[in-house]
Amino acid sequence: MPEGAAVGRILATVLSTGKRHMNHGGEDACATGYGLAAGGGCSRIIRLMPTRIPIVLDCDPGHDDALAIMLALARPELELLAVTTVAGNASLEATTRNALRVLTLLERTDVPVAAGSSAPLVRPLHVAANVHGASGLDGADLPEPAVLVRPEHAIELIRSVVERSSGPVTLVPTGPLTNIALLIRTYPRLLDRVERICLMGGAVGEGNVTASAEFNIWVDPEAASIVFDAGRPLTMIGLDVTHQAIVTAADAGRLAALGTRTGRVFADLLQFFGRFHAERYGWDGSPIHDAVAVAHLAVPGLVETEMCRVDIETASELTRGRTVADQRGLSGRPPNAEIGLRIDRTRFVELLVEAVARFP
Ligand code: BDR
Ligand code: CA
Repeated sequence: MPEGAAVGRILATVLSTGKRHMNHGGEDACATGYGLAAGGGCSRIIRLMPTRIPIVLDCDPGHDDALAIMLALARPELELLAVTTVAGNASLEATTRNALRVLTLLERTDVPVAAGSSAPLVRPLHVAANVHGASGLDGADLPEPAVLVRPEHAIELIRSVVERSSGPVTLVPTGPLTNIALLIRTYPRLLDRVERICLMGGAVGEGNVTASAEFNIWVDPEAASIVFDAGRPLTMIGLDVTHQAIVTAADAGRLAALGTRTGRVFADLLQFFGRFHAERYGWDGSPIHDAVAVAHLAVPGLVETEMCRVDIETASELTRGRTVADQRGLSGRPPNAEIGLRIDRTRFVELLVEAVARFP
């Protein structure tokens, strides 16, 4: 079956009877929506109406953030309402410029971009230039931004798109959680209109910036603590699952072989990103962490998850930013997070290749 994520999200409205039921359709139906006149003597008209998941991507591009933006735009199950940026992989100025360059590359400058926090809530900023290069997105020839960043702060853009959305919006943070924590503290009532927070960050097992902690959570653990305690449904796509989501050099070759500008740029980005992972882990390829959070929303079932209590370590320096996942329920406290554990790598790579192929 083609990507089944559209399954269950296509609302078939039987106009003649006024009844509604869920129709199991393929992604093309979801992408375009269309009308069907049933044959065989049946005169009822069935209209298939797509219901896409409205999302806001809050990111720090970043090689894998760039792929997450691309995937969010490509998947017909998702509607990218806005991109907001935060300091993380690089300075806020750099991550914002990178977001604008990626949207320019993808010819989607209609998606509004606003910059948010230039530093964590209470700690100094640490960037990941060793992973992503000085620009945050080294290794490829990206176009100059064809649009300007919006004048308002990221949390104001998120507030306005959430308030204007006809349905609840899903937040997809793929950088430090500073902006999302500020949003929660500034506009707590807005949370009623937030369907879910599906974030890339954390690890049940080994970290990647320290033995204890993953980068996004380690950079701003106080913000992460606010977000995990916000009381909204939350998915943690951590290293346990993203380290299985590796795009190899051969996979990157498939992007280059598309013969498109977008394919070339992403192949080059992957080659640069791969150097760090070859040196650190000896891997042939890179985990595309942030795109897993997007893929999980678009294709339910792609990532295997379980519910669990997760708390963030903010007091200790040794274990700063550890996502303490109580998988056995030892604390007796109710779960506050769905955590990603496993992913079908081959299917994930197919999603990315198919997605890149949709762009010029
Ligand atoms: C996370 O850290 C960043 O370097 C990546 O963009 C990703 O969001 C992985 O730990
Ligand atoms: Ca990121």
